[in-house]
Amino acid sequence: MGKDVIVACDFDSAEQTLAFLDRFTGRKPFVKIGMELFYAEGPEIVRAIKARGHRIFLDLKLHDIPNTVRKAMKVLSALDVDMVNVHAAGTTAMMRAALEGLTREDGSRPLLIAVTQLTSTSEAVMQEELGIAGSINDTIAHYAANAQAAGLDGVVCSPLEAGLVKGACGPQFLTVTPGIRFADASADDQVRITTPARAREIGSDFIVVGRPVTQAADPVAAYQRCVQEFSLNHE
Ligand code: C5P
Repeated sequence: MGKDVIVACDFDSAEQTLAFLDRFTGRKPFVKIGMELFYAEGPEIVRAIKARGHRIFLDLKLHDIPNTVRKAMKVLSALDVDMVNVHAAGTTAMMRAALEGLTREDGSRPLLIAVTQLTSTSEAVMQEELGIAGSINDTIAHYAANAQAAGLDGVVCSPLEAGLVKGACGPQFLTVTPGIRFADASADDQVRITTPARAREIGSDFIVVGRPVTQAADPVAAYQRCVQEFSLNHE
């Protein structure tokens, strides 16, 4: 699967989400469905978006005992999504179980990526509250290596950490990076941000873009600008 721009559909209803996606009459964006929309609308919203021809990253960040995650992943795999995720903190045993659950009888499966440390967690909180010694960069590299050892395809991380992850796990290990803003736009509540072009240079394989597209006066034009800046037109 090549590089792509993923649009975070952070809406709380199917109606709003589908009205938003109906604007895209040309290239159909790869779409991220998060907890808010999935918990509000259930699996039906996944089927509806899939039926419109979009690829889907179902961002539910599973973290439970291996057996529960294996069985939950089997259900998600049957929904025919293209990418799902777990917390690397759930252990390599849990990540292996997730992979087993996801793999269909014909051997196909969605991409499986891991959250290393949430970008909302500071180094001080990680060390003092969560009790994880070492630097946040070392922890991210270590968790990414665990995900790779378990057979996962990549991690979610800040675009500024993409180079660190590639260095630890090699160029084929995928980096999926939120925290993207246009050079001339507001950061909103994001802190460690960069532009689509810079994210590509550092090593992002997929950029996840929410408000710069969903809140734009012209979302289709904003999406096309992301695609352009992320250089997808050259492929
Ligand atoms: O609107 P914005 O572009 O900031 O949206 C980014 C999306 O990526 C949101 O859905 C947000 O929840 C998600 N995300 C993030 N940082 C992470 C993980 C996910 O911003 N570390």
